[in-house]
Amino acid sequence: AVAVAATSVVVLDRGNNTTCTINLHGATVVSWRVNNQEQLFVSKLASFDGKKAIRGGIPFVFPQFGPWSFGPQHGFARITRWHLDRAPERLHNGDVEAIFSLMDNEFTRSIWNYQFRITYRLILREKELHFHIGVYNPSKDLSFTFNMLLHTYLKVPDVRRCQITGLQGCHFIDKTREGALYQEGREVVTVNEWTDRIYQHTPQEHVITNVVSGRKMRLHKYNFPDTVIWNPWIDRSREMSDFGDDEFPNMLCVEAGNVSSPVILLPGSCFEASQILQQFKCPYELAV
Ligand code: BG6
Repeated sequence: AVAVAATSVVVLDRGNNTTCTINLHGATVVSWRVNNQEQLFVSKLASFDGKKAIRGGIPFVFPQFGPWSFGPQHGFARITRWHLDRAPERLHNGDVEAIFSLMDNEFTRSIWNYQFRITYRLILREKELHFHIGVYNPSKDLSFTFNMLLHTYLKVPDVRRCQITGLQGCHFIDKTREGALYQEGREVVTVNEWTDRIYQHTPQEHVITNVVSGRKMRLHKYNFPDTVIWNPWIDRSREMSDFGDDEFPNMLCVEAGNVSSPVILLPGSCFEASQILQQFKCPYELAV
């Protein structure tokens, strides 16, 4: 039931065509299927050359979010090969777990000269995907600061029909307007144009409506105070070489992270954060 398909790809298989595929390049979750239905968007032009970040799925952003004077945009974790610590293993309740890790190496130290160790544990449940992250600072004397974010690309039939709950009253940085700060007035947020916002101090839960098959997705997060909402829309899609011009209606990024204020990690200490994605049916569908 569980298999390591190829050297660069790890598959968690829960049965009933419920699977999760992780590419060791960036420990990027490149597919999550629930009863054979794909939940994540990956661009048809995504590059899998082991160099560029994979355009879609769930890239792991660390230790920087956004442009970076020391190195690549969104840091190096999404373009570094991760290690498989524990191959997919079936738990007593039928769930499947795998553990990945990333440690500092010559490449990461050439950009960012700190020792660190990240463990990334994924658990595939019937209609849920759980993410547990630990960052450890093994240094005896050096602290470091970092951003971290799970850059989740949800697959949606039409982004204009999606609603995102849990943002009302939150302040947000609008990256489409030179980073101006606003406060969200809407009970549910909709996306009808180029959108690139960092919502701050968001609640632990968002629900996104009208994802695949008109279902809802619950995003539950712990120790991720910010939520980024992104869709490049028409013009910005054209500027990306690894994103199709006509793909923007079919994706919505809802990204849980530590972005607006970085995490400070003292020597010998550990930081933990987690996320759960849960696909669920609308109540009226349950009655049928
Ligand atoms: C989002 C950022 O999280 O990622 C956007 O808020 C950015 O500003 C987008 O354009 C995609 O980034 P990249 O580096 O994968 O093209």
